[in-house]
Amino acid sequence: MSKEVTLEDIVSLCKRRGFIFQGSEIYGGLAGTWDYGPLGVSLKKNLTDLWWKTFVEDREDMVGVDAAILMNPRTWKASGHVDTFTDPLVECSECKGRFRADKIDLRKCPTCGAENSFGEARQFNLMFKSFAGPLTKDIQSAKYKVNSVEMTNGDRIDSEKNDSAILYQDSSKIYLRPETAQGIFTNFKNVVDTLYPDVPFGIAQIGKAFRNEISPRDFVFRSREFNQMEIEYFINEKDWQERFEKWRTDILSFLKEAGVDVSKVKEAEVSPEDLAHYSKRTIDYEFEYPHGADELLGLAYRTDFDLQNIQRESGKNMEYRPKDGSEPFVPHVIEPSFGVERLIMAVLCSAYTEDEVNGEKRIYLKFPAHIAPVKYCVSPLLKNKLELVEKAREVYSALKKKHGTVMWDDNGNIGKRYRRQDEIGTPYCVVIDFDTLDNNTVTIRDRDTTKQERVSIDDLLSST
Ligand code: GAP
Repeated sequence: MSKEVTLEDIVSLCKRRGFIFQGSEIYGGLAGTWDYGPLGVSLKKNLTDLWWKTFVEDREDMVGVDAAILMNPRTWKASGHVDTFTDPLVECSECKGRFRADKIDLRKCPTCGAENSFGEARQFNLMFKSFAGPLTKDIQSAKYKVNSVEMTNGDRIDSEKNDSAILYQDSSKIYLRPETAQGIFTNFKNVVDTLYPDVPFGIAQIGKAFRNEISPRDFVFRSREFNQMEIEYFINEKDWQERFEKWRTDILSFLKEAGVDVSKVKEAEVSPEDLAHYSKRTIDYEFEYPHGADELLGLAYRTDFDLQNIQRESGKNMEYRPKDGSEPFVPHVIEPSFGVERLIMAVLCSAYTEDEVNGEKRIYLKFPAHIAPVKYCVSPLLKNKLELVEKAREVYSALKKKHGTVMWDDNGNIGKRYRRQDEIGTPYCVVIDFDTLDNNTVTIRDRDTTKQERVSIDDLLSST
């Protein structure tokens, strides 16, 4: 039986084989940021493509948007993020370490061990703040001359004649979006006015989100920059329970398809006192990560909270007019919200397997073939036999044209090549040997069983 995977197993394999690296590693890193390497980017693309295909392309009731990361700050006032998107922060009076109060034992500092060294928890807003346009002090220190400044209503004011031009620049604080959801809500009216879909319908978005987490931790699990895949599904209020139940089924079948071991997924009902400010019902889908059971994604019934807030803040009507002429209404919303990094971690943990082949320990990633970052590896049996190399190149090019992510490997002996491919989860290794030259067949070796089969090149190229 394979051993339980540890966080160290995953982190070390990801670095060793080029899935995920520490962000800015060369300069000592930047906490809470991660860079995808060649295999990681391919795995991430396969998972986000599968999500998009499942929830947008294969359905009639879904469309997509790709909204800007920088949004008018009124977005975050209306959504409640400016006032309530906080975590409780405590600081140790001895070592000055800062922690999330709800994640540690407050009797003892986890860094220096000091006892009772924490004061009152303060609420810390997790949004990254920045400024649109240059700041006064930057303008002065760089001795730039700013002739005029454009206001949000399109007017321009002359900064030489009017100090408020510069003051305005100081006040144009913006945020990096902490969730992709608001880029969907703020486009609700655009989508309705241009496509006029029937309710229920959903809008999906995949993109970056940023949170100034107090303590990023557990590899990519809690990052400061991450990716979300979110859906806002607009419904008539009376249908919310039925729609919520349907999403529960759809979420589990997607997770299975993505290669998540669903026996390690638990639906945790969020208690009324722990619900987010916008939610009437939320289920956290927890996965048994190596660091413990923790949230992989969330399914929330957000009522009409967001559209009502936008209607109030913008003064624009968010009502939907049913085509049958019945009463207009502000739709309610069911929100399935997936974190890409947490899905990648769950898929990696589900795929990680150790066994023994010919008395030797082997590590392999048993990804479903459609998720694997590399679909095939092609090798000539011997790299110094020109005729084998030429034939192998032919097969490699044909497979690459068809599947894209195909690897060439002629380094070391065949056994070592197989091990390298097992470790990155390549489902099939194709070897061109002397029989290939006689009868146009190759060997194809299955990652999970390690069994080899002879197949004709024609069959190989016509298989999916
Ligand atoms: N729009 C709702 C929303 O953003 P959330 O529970 O705060 O809800 C949704 O976030 C998902 O985003 C989480 O279930 C998780 O998968 C992911 N996520 C949240 N914070 C994260 C972080 N710091 N690092 C990585 N993923 C994160």
